[in-house]
Amino acid sequence: MKIFIDTADIDEIEEAYSWGILDGITTNPSLIKKAVEKLKNKGKKVDMEEYIKKICSIVEGPVSLEVRGIKAEEMVREGNILYEKFNDINDNIVIKIPVNTAFNENDEQFEGIKAIKELEETGIPTNATLIMAPEQALLAAKAGASYVSPFLGRVDDYIRSVKGIEYSKMDYWDFDASILMENKEREKKAENGYKVVSSVSYSDNGIYSGVHLVESIIRIFDSYSYDTEIIAASVRNARQVRLVAEMGVDIATIPFTVIKEMVSHYKTMEGMKKFTQDVVEEYSKLFE
Ligand code: E4P
Repeated sequence: MKIFIDTADIDEIEEAYSWGILDGITTNPSLIKKAVEKLKNKGKKVDMEEYIKKICSIVEGPVSLEVRGIKAEEMVREGNILYEKFNDINDNIVIKIPVNTAFNENDEQFEGIKAIKELEETGIPTNATLIMAPEQALLAAKAGASYVSPFLGRVDDYIRSVKGIEYSKMDYWDFDASILMENKEREKKAENGYKVVSSVSYSDNGIYSGVHLVESIIRIFDSYSYDTEIIAASVRNARQVRLVAEMGVDIATIPFTVIKEMVSHYKTMEGMKKFTQDVVEEYSKLFE
C-alpha cells in the first residue's frame, strides 16, 4: 500500500518525507487554507505559486491539487493551469476534481464527471474527490479517473450523526460493535415483551461505514479490472489505515497526526524503557 500525506503543510511534508515512508501528497482548499493561516499567524507572507512549487519538489510521487470551479469548463481550464504551472517541477501533478459539484439536487450533477473525462483525454491525470458512495467511484472510473478518493471519515461522521451518536473527530467508528450492542438491546426489549424488529442499524444506502465504502469500491474495481487506483481518504485513525490495508487498497492518504499514531504503542514504549534500563556495562563497552 502506498502512503500519501494529506496536508498542505510543508513542515509536515518534509518531516514525513524524511521518515522514508511517503509516496505522494494530497491537498484540498481547506488544507491549503490551514497551511496559509499557519504561515500568516507567524507573520509570514505567502507566495502561493512558490509555496506549491516547493510542495511538488519534495516528493516524486503524485501531488493532488484541487480546482475551485464548479462547472466542467471552469474545472478543465483550472486543471490545465495547475498542470502547466507545476507539472514541470517533478512530473507529478494530479488534478483533484469533485465527483459531483452540485450544491443541491436542482444543480447540474455531472460537471465533475465531464471534467474528469476531458482532462484525462488530454493526458492530465485526475483524482475524483468527495466520493461518498461506490456508485460515484464507478462513474469516475468509467470516465477515466486515474484515482478515486472515498472519504472514510466523513461517511462515518454522517452515519454517526444520523444515529445520534456523539463522537470526536478522530474516533474509530466501530460498526461491528454497534451491531452487537443493538442486538443486545433488541434481545433485552424482547425479554420485556417488545416486538423484535429485523434490523435497526442505520446504513447509508447499504454502506455501514467508511471502511465498508472502501471495501465495496475495491470489490467493484476488481470485478471489472479498472485501472483507476483507490485512495482511502478522510482517514481519521490508525485502525482505519490497518483495515483498508488488509483489504488491499492501493493508497491511503493520511494526516500527519495519524501517521504518528501508526508508529506508537504503549507496550513498545514500556519495552523500550525496560531494554534501556537493562543494558549492562559489559554490553555498553561494545559501542565504545
Ligand atoms: C482527501 O484527499 C481529502 O483531502 C481529505 O482526506 C479530507 O479529509 P477530512 O474529511 O478529514 O477533511
